[in-house]
Amino acid sequence: MDESNKEPDTPNMFGVTRRTVIETGATALLLTTLPRAALAAGVDDNEPPALPAKVELQINGQPHSLMLDPRTTLLDALREHLALTGSKKGCDHGQCGACTVLMDGRRINSCLTLAIMHDGQSITTIEGLAAGDNLHPLQAAFVEHDGFQCGYCTSGQICSAAGMLTESRQGMPSYVTEDLTQPAAELTDAEIRERMSGNICRCAAYPNIVAAIKQAAGMPA
Ligand code: FES
Ligand code: FES
Repeated sequence: MDESNKEPDTPNMFGVTRRTVIETGATALLLTTLPRAALAAGVDDNEPPALPAKVELQINGQPHSLMLDPRTTLLDALREHLALTGSKKGCDHGQCGACTVLMDGRRINSCLTLAIMHDGQSITTIEGLAAGDNLHPLQAAFVEHDGFQCGYCTSGQICSAAGMLTESRQGMPSYVTEDLTQPAAELTDAEIRERMSGNICRCAAYPNIVAAIKQAAGMPA
């Protein structure tokens, strides 16, 4: 390359040259990407391996004592360590709701929380909703109304609906609740759809899901 065509690397008004900017940027990029790349490869020399931690969970009424890497999500603890595969991993990013379980009755995305954070708490998964051979009313209503096609989202939908009905009975408003002075909003289709909006169904079984929830809530179709 003809050296005479190069722009002179003269400092700007702050005394910074182009070379300084490029070198600083490259260093910052290395510092931010190297640890991730090393972690992905499992060769982070700076971090000692996480020691397994004891986690006590009450799952579907049964006590479980697990030794887990503290970074284990609740979803992975359920699926990989307890073989409770009813809770599904859809996105693993809190976007689809397929992993929804009930924590002390409250619905949560199990992919977004670490198992160790629930030490001593009570978790209900889809496997724990039925009473023996008697389906939970939501399960029965989903079957009756064909509230699914492939079924991948269904366990999350049902657990979420169970939590949602409790929230609604407790008077918790939603984004579309019009009258906040009332003790509990009427569960209109719009209310149900909004309250269930964290649970995505790629098969778009939404009308049947709403119908099933209304039946389980004892509402007219
Ligand atoms: Fe948890 Fe999608 S897998 S929200
Ligand atoms: Fe297939 Fe909901 S039934 S994603």
